[in-house]
Amino acid sequence: MTNSSAEYQSAYEHSLRDPDAFWGQAAEGITWFRRWDRVRDASRPPFTRWFPGAVMNTCYNAVDRHVERGRGKQRALIYDSPVTGVVRIFTYSDLLDRVARLAGSLRAYGVEQGDRVIIYMPAVPEAVFAMLACARLGAIHSVVFGGFAARELATRIDDARPKLILTASCGIEATRVIPYKPLLDKAIGLASHKPARSVVLQRPQLAAPLVEGQDVDWEEALTRGTPAECVPVAATDPLYILYTSGTTGIPKGVVRDNGGHAVALNWSMDRVFSAGAGDVFWAASDIGWTVGHGYIVYAPLLHGATSVLYEGKPVGTPDAGAFWRVCAQHGVNVLFTAPTAFRAIKREDPRGLLMRSHDLSRFRLLFLAGERCDPDTLSWAQEQLGVPVIDHWWQTELGWPAIANCVGLGMLPVKPGSPTKPVPGFDIHVLGSDGAVLAPGETGQIAIRLPLPPGALPTLWNNDEGFVRSYLSQHDGYYVTVDAGYRDKDGYFYVMSRVDDIINVAGHRLSTGAMEEVLSGHPDVAECAVVGAADALKGELPVGFVVLKSGVSRGDGEITGELVNRIKDTIGAFACFRTAIVVTALPKTRSGKILRGTMKKIADGAEYALPATIDDPAVLTHIAERLRSVGYAKPVE
Ligand code: COA
Ligand code: AMP
Repeated sequence: MTNSSAEYQSAYEHSLRDPDAFWGQAAEGITWFRRWDRVRDASRPPFTRWFPGAVMNTCYNAVDRHVERGRGKQRALIYDSPVTGVVRIFTYSDLLDRVARLAGSLRAYGVEQGDRVIIYMPAVPEAVFAMLACARLGAIHSVVFGGFAARELATRIDDARPKLILTASCGIEATRVIPYKPLLDKAIGLASHKPARSVVLQRPQLAAPLVEGQDVDWEEALTRGTPAECVPVAATDPLYILYTSGTTGIPKGVVRDNGGHAVALNWSMDRVFSAGAGDVFWAASDIGWTVGHGYIVYAPLLHGATSVLYEGKPVGTPDAGAFWRVCAQHGVNVLFTAPTAFRAIKREDPRGLLMRSHDLSRFRLLFLAGERCDPDTLSWAQEQLGVPVIDHWWQTELGWPAIANCVGLGMLPVKPGSPTKPVPGFDIHVLGSDGAVLAPGETGQIAIRLPLPPGALPTLWNNDEGFVRSYLSQHDGYYVTVDAGYRDKDGYFYVMSRVDDIINVAGHRLSTGAMEEVLSGHPDVAECAVVGAADALKGELPVGFVVLKSGVSRGDGEITGELVNRIKDTIGAFACFRTAIVVTALPKTRSGKILRGTMKKIADGAEYALPATIDDPAVLTHIAERLRSVGYAKPVE
């Protein structure tokens, strides 16, 4: 085996040597109403705009053109919902009909090109129709993951200032129904911007009471207006805003444009995922995440493939064979999920018996992303499935994979623990703190030399300055990923950890800083710290340490219970904040900096050196004792 595929190598070099020619060629995969003046506009550094002057519509490319080309009868979207026992199949013609009608009714409620629409919905087909209907009108959607609590939704409402909010009466988790409407109403109450209307999809599992004049029933909304045609938009116009955790409680509004996004995602289907038109592609994620936007909705549809929308879990709906049942029933060729899902499956079906009880003859490839893929999980999946298992790395900001084994360009040998090599378009380096490119094997910050390729964020919503400050100002000419890692002598990357306060809980990106803000708001808390402790299933779990104000006489258990509920009610249950520990002091340096890194190492039972600048070493002993009392800080075996 060699470490390079000639096709990959040549594509990669071409993409860096002449990005305009490379992406101009890739753009032939998209249908344009008007072609671009230039492939790339770099006249306002450090910003890059792709395909200025071009006019197109993302929904047209994802839906209409397939029907016009005779693929109307092909399955476009398969909705499989073990939590409701429903499977629904929509052909491209069905999709066109649903999306055009919904777009017409959104217009009847005043939505025009450039308006924002928040979509706060579970994984139901109407959420996909809603995203495409916005794209059809040139309106900008902002999908908010249904697991977020009211305060998080309110922050997004205030930043995006939507004209309409689309929601459902409830989401359905494995064991319970989650009413969405009270969360939405609370969020609108908290927000200073008030959307004109909420359109509510009533699900049979739980109807929501609607407020006259404010809420509209989804079915009734559909009786308004007439089916809408695609509105031509500039390639550089925003398609969507997706908020992601930053290092404070204020999320960042990642902007995705129309043209560059369509070009990159369509290109990635063949080259990265080796999936063609007509293949069945399943991204087992949620539409609220970047993976869901890109690979449940846009990429498979732009490419004319069939996409699976799954409303369930890898285990418990009903068992650890759920993924294999879906793959067999719908003929899935390519599956994309997070390693944590596989750890959950492995825990319940270690010998793969449930897996083997299904016909997986059409299943070709498994892609894993969202968190570091531990070699054990990778090799277990490979052995059990007997197909290539591909770890690949990306971020909400980048919108599609940046480091991957581009199977469609010739598969490279897999090195467990590495997502392989940079994808064409991404000029990735490991930098030292002085900005110098480090030698193979040396760990530093992973950074991408500008320009970022099409599909990556052109800016943050209404915040060019924040975009430059957060990502482009640290090292001149580079986008910093805020991930640390190294490159080996063969050019393979190893992504080891974040260098900010972001932790990864079951593939979900969460800010410990945001959690600390919530804990500090409790009247009895003097100061606090949250760290991500290693967890065998979810990768990391947050652990909170709190110092109480002097004179607080209530029991610790009562207060920690309140703290756990606070995080659940302000951020969401998916943060899995279950451990809050009362301590007498937090370990600090003499200059007062909290030693979160050392606390994490203690929690993980890892080796740690006593920091030279520590103020009081006895505090670390106290922290270790408290952690041991709740099951952490055990030596690693
Ligand atoms: N709406 C409301 N609540 C939600 C939710 C949603 N959309 N998603 C999760 N939650 C809640 C759950 O009900 C649960 O609440 P509880 O602790 O009160 O019971 C909590 O958040 C944690 O949920 P989850 O992370 O799903 O944990 P789990 O233990 O039920 O399942 C896994 C564990 C590994 C199976 C699950 O985390 C999983 O499927 N992970 C894959 C994640 C993924 O695909 N990420 C996308 C990255 S590409
Ligand atoms: P998100 O923006 O939610 O997609 O999270 C992005 C972050 O998840 C990255 O910055 C990494 O820290 C982590 N991540 C995603 N994929 C991988 C991977 N394959 N290996 C290691 N870390 C990953």
